[in-house]
Amino acid sequence: MRNVNLLFVISLAFAVTVRCQNATRGNPVPPPEKVWLGGTFFWTVDSPSNFSSRIGRPALVYQWYSSIPLDMTGNVGYLRGKVLDSPFPRGPKGSADRGVLLFTIEPFGGLATVDLKAIADIVSVCARLNDFGVDVLLRFAHEMNGDWYPWGIQPVAYKSVFASLATAIHANTTSTAMVWSPNVGTEYPFSVVSKAVNGTADFTAMDTNGDGVVNNNDDPYEPWWPGDEHVDWVGMSLYWLGGTANFGNNAIPYTRFLYNSLHGLNPQTGNGTVVPDFYTKYVVGRNKPFVLAETGALYAPSKTGPKELDIKRGMWTQMVTAPALDLLPMMKAVVLYENDVNVSGVAGVIDYSVTIKPDLRAAFVADLNFTRFQWGR
Ligand SMILES: *[C@@H]1O[C@H](CO)[C@@H](O)[C@H](O)[C@H]1NC(C)=O
Ligand SMILES: *[C@@H]1O[C@H](CO)[C@@H](O)[C@H](O)[C@H]1NC(C)=O
Ligand SMILES: *[C@@H]1O[C@H](CO)[C@@H](O)[C@H](O)[C@H]1NC(C)=O
Ligand SMILES: *[C@@H]1O[C@H](CO)[C@@H](O)[C@H](O)[C@H]1NC(C)=O
Ligand SMILES: *[C@@H]1O[C@H](CO)[C@@H](O)[C@H](O)[C@H]1NC(C)=O
Ligand SMILES: *[C@@H]1O[C@H](CO)[C@@H](O)[C@H](O)[C@H]1NC(C)=O
Ligand SMILES: *[C@@H]1O[C@H](CO)[C@@H](O)[C@H](O)[C@H]1NC(C)=O
Repeated sequence: MRNVNLLFVISLAFAVTVRCQNATRGNPVPPPEKVWLGGTFFWTVDSPSNFSSRIGRPALVYQWYSSIPLDMTGNVGYLRGKVLDSPFPRGPKGSADRGVLLFTIEPFGGLATVDLKAIADIVSVCARLNDFGVDVLLRFAHEMNGDWYPWGIQPVAYKSVFASLATAIHANTTSTAMVWSPNVGTEYPFSVVSKAVNGTADFTAMDTNGDGVVNNNDDPYEPWWPGDEHVDWVGMSLYWLGGTANFGNNAIPYTRFLYNSLHGLNPQTGNGTVVPDFYTKYVVGRNKPFVLAETGALYAPSKTGPKELDIKRGMWTQMVTAPALDLLPMMKAVVLYENDVNVSGVAGVIDYSVTIKPDLRAAFVADLNFTRFQWGR
């Protein structure tokens, strides 16, 4: 998400003890026919139990953002306080009600800060979480195909660092998955003129059709694909922001906005191929489960147009109903963005939440197909 600063101050008190458990490692996934529901929120004001009580069932996935380096020196660390010492759904490896931390790592100092020490720290934390009874979906340097984060549009370094981290994670944790999670490529390369610097290896990698420019004729995903062996889950950030013609304004989401966007089709009409078919290529083609890692529908209270409920409902019905899940059968986790954020080009703070306001919550819970999702105890 652009213009979102979710940098939490963390301090972790874990010893850097790393054990090799290749024989027992496995990719955490929900049971067959089930999907995980999750929430992203500010942990200072919200919690897994609060989110679950709003929905009425214990959800299993919670997102936590962390910068690099992880601070391993504190006494009472953020992770310890919020995950290890607070109610967080946990259980034996492989049990259906074991909780999942969607652990998003943001290298705000740049990809060069992800050195061997940083990787060892990440591995240590993930191994500790796995031992504690929590699965981890490790979403490293998300939205790397956009130019708004310090780790963006550097495919050469990104792929190299992702591979190093994946190798260490796979060798030394028992149930941590590597999540590759770009931004939806419909508006790629996002800036009017790409910020890619001509003459660099990154530029060459991004100029996928070799015509000397990086523009919307180039592939918005493939330059950053780290390789099948390094990726366990495929993810995406995909928000409804009013539609191309109505960006930043209140509008009802297109009927198949989520499906069309994931398949690279015209988001509104569903015809034509606007960008490569992401879902077919990386999810179905690679047989990787898909996590909708960041999502929500923009409603700007300062603007006219449709009601908040109608806008948000137009989006969530594409994610949590039986027909929606039937359309995207490999979408195995849906993580709601229950946060306030600043959205580029839109005045005021935007509230993406669907479970906070009572009228929205009632409608959301009524539309949510509970039997399709996996719940905790
Ligand atoms: C959770 O809900 C309780 C009761 O409504 C509230 O007091 C608390 O501040 C909320 N937030 C957290 C982080 O627990
Ligand atoms: C992971 O395990 C391998 C094999 O035991 C070891 O060589 C490597 O240093 C470990 N990596 C990290 C980051 O702990
Ligand atoms: C663990 O798996 C990795 C990657 O497959 C391999 O390089 C490493 O040698 C393995 N370590 C052990 C101790 O088996
Ligand atoms: C990039 O450099 C190449 C080779 O010098 C040139 O042909 C091309 O026009 C340049 N592209 C841009 C966008 O400047
Ligand atoms: C796209 O599909 C719509 C129907 O959904 C059709 O009316 C329209 O003509 C199509 N446009 C193009 C450019 O094919
Ligand atoms: C939004 O931007 C304002 C002004 O820069 C800032 O004070 C506020 O913390 C931001 N809110 C969020 C949720 O990021
Ligand atoms: C919920 O999903 C189940 C399983 O797919 C299905 O049998 C049921 O009809 C769905 N309920 C609604 C209201 O769509």
